[in-house]
Amino acid sequence: MKAVKIKDSEYEIKKGKILKAKMLTTMEKYFEIALPGGESLDHEPGQFVEVSILGIGEAPISISSSPTKRGSFELVVRNAGKLSGALHKLEAGDEVGIRGPFGKGFPVRILEGNDLLFVAAGLGVVPLRSLINFVIDNRRDFGKVNILLGCRTPQNMLFNDELEQWGKRLDVNFNCTVDKADPDWKGNVGLITTLIPGINLEPERTFAVVVGPPIMYKFVIVELLKKQIPERQILVSLERHMKCGLGKCGHCQINNMYCCQDGPVFTYDKIKGIPEAL
Ligand code: FES
Repeated sequence: MKAVKIKDSEYEIKKGKILKAKMLTTMEKYFEIALPGGESLDHEPGQFVEVSILGIGEAPISISSSPTKRGSFELVVRNAGKLSGALHKLEAGDEVGIRGPFGKGFPVRILEGNDLLFVAAGLGVVPLRSLINFVIDNRRDFGKVNILLGCRTPQNMLFNDELEQWGKRLDVNFNCTVDKADPDWKGNVGLITTLIPGINLEPERTFAVVVGPPIMYKFVIVELLKKQIPERQILVSLERHMKCGLGKCGHCQINNMYCCQDGPVFTYDKIKGIPEAL
C-alpha cells in the first residue's frame, strides 16, 4: 500500500447545518448545507465530502453545487443504506458532520478555452452539475458546450427546473433521452450512446466529461473514440466503494491508485486497460 500524507484538517469534522432538504425523486433527496459562519467549502467541481451522523457512520458524497455558489453547498443522497436512510430522515435545521472536500476534481484550468461535451447518465448528473454550473457561470472562458443527459424514465430525472434552464440557453446545446418513456414524454427515447453520433464537434479542441453508472462508460467511450476525441481529453469520474477518503483504508484501490486521492476524476488514457477501472 502506498504511503499517503494526511493533514490534520482532513480529520476535522465540521458541523454542517441543513438549510434546505427536499425529495427530488422517490429515492433521491437534496440537501443545501452551510458550514459554521458561512465558511466556504472551497471545493473544486468533481470533489466529494465525507458526511457523518453521530452514532451511525460516515459516507462519501459528491458535491453537486458549483464553487461559484457561495455560503452553502449542495448534495444529493440516494437512499441505499444505513447512513443514507438516516440522512433521508433529516430536514432543514438538522446538523450533519462534514469532512473534506476530498479527491481530485475536474481540471478546470485545462478545460478553459476548449469545447466541452458533457455526458451524464443516472446519478452522474449530480457531480457533473457542479462543473456544468461552474462553466455556465464562467461561460466566456469556455468554447462550445454540449450537454447530453440520460435517465431510465422521466420520473428519475433530477433537477428538472434546472435542466429546463440549460435547454433554453442559446450558448449551450442540451439534449436528453430516457430508456423508457411514458405517453407525456416528448423527448428522445433510447440509450445515451445514441445521442453522440449526432453531435457536431472538433475533436482536437473538445474535452468529453463522462459521469454515470459503471456499465455506461465502455459504450460511451467507444462512441467518443469514434468521434476521434483524444484519449487524454476524455475525463471520467469513477464511482468506487470509498470509506475513509484519505488513502488509508484501501477500499477504493484501482491497481496502484486510490480513487479517493488520485481520482475520482481520471483521464481515459490513465485507466484504459485496467480491468478493475472500467
Ligand atoms: S476510501 Fe479509503 S483509501 Fe480511498
